[in-house]
Amino acid sequence: MSQLTFDGKVAIVTGAGGGLGRAYALLLARRGARVLVNDLGGDFTGQGANGDYAAAVVREICGTGGIAIANVDSVATREGADRIVAQAMDVWGQVDILINNAGLVTSRGPLWDMTDKQWETDIEVAATGTFQMCRAVWKQMWDRNYGRILNVSSGSFFGMGSGLGYPAAKGATWGITRALSVTADHHQKNVRVNCVMPTAASRMTHLLGEEVASAMNREYPPEAAAPVAAYLVHEEVPCNGEMFRIGGGRFRRVFIGITPGYRGSPDTLDMETVRDHFAEVMKPDGYIIPHNSIDALDADAGVNWSAFGAGIL
Ligand code: NAI
Repeated sequence: MSQLTFDGKVAIVTGAGGGLGRAYALLLARRGARVLVNDLGGDFTGQGANGDYAAAVVREICGTGGIAIANVDSVATREGADRIVAQAMDVWGQVDILINNAGLVTSRGPLWDMTDKQWETDIEVAATGTFQMCRAVWKQMWDRNYGRILNVSSGSFFGMGSGLGYPAAKGATWGITRALSVTADHHQKNVRVNCVMPTAASRMTHLLGEEVASAMNREYPPEAAAPVAAYLVHEEVPCNGEMFRIGGGRFRRVFIGITPGYRGSPDTLDMETVRDHFAEVMKPDGYIIPHNSIDALDADAGVNWSAFGAGIL
């Protein structure tokens, strides 16, 4: 079995000063990538900044013969994201891989208690940060016709109480993944953008309670998620625009499908018909997984959707 390597490749891993990001950075470096280890280094609620996080991981990589540099900028601003990418470009002249791993959770508890600041912080790091970093590397990847981006969502997207900022931001990373992968495919670029929903023990895990946290330390070390993340940013990655749940040595595909549903006439559909066909519409049998927003429209609706598609892809 041939070993997969990242020889000649340059990777940026954001939020890589601990937890999952550290595991991703160590694995990429061990397999030959030159890695920019970014981490702002605040606490898990976004307070403060501390350059020791990124520096420690760089020392770890370099101590075992790898190549890495540290960066302490925030992914959440244009200036920060541009500086992160500029640093890698200045030192190595290219960026082949971006893992948008930086994230934090501040929104918890009942919706009526949630503050604007909690909403904004969660959105700024995961959603805006992913956007900022993708924009900062995109032109260079586009022009070189090579890029591998991995965005990070969360299982909280499936529903996690009423702390809205975090799952909203993590839903945005999936939307960004879909949009960029579709445009790269449409223009036949060798750029792949995929997404993961990880599960791993980290400093965030204690939010789940001590019993769960200690079981996760045993069953879900970050290193048990890293090989999937690394494969998804490898040259050989066979997919684009996909989402996977990863962790504990397992990986599974996550997708959004559309059921065949019910089709009535535009003139006669009424509320009673909706009620009478509701159970049929809910059945997953015969679902499709749309490749892009045009596929998600009614193919047989008598509208030439591709005329609209030409303008958006
Ligand atoms: P972590 O807290 O150890 O790692 C996140 C890192 O991001 C921290 O080191 C933090 O300093 C850094 N960071 C935060 N804001 C930043 C900013 N503005 N700029 C640069 N760096 C910043 O947590 P963990 O668990 O390793 O999480 C990694 C990613 O995986 C996050 O995006 C998280 O939301 C996601 N995730 C983790 C899950 C888990 O089970 N551990 C579950 C679902 C998602």
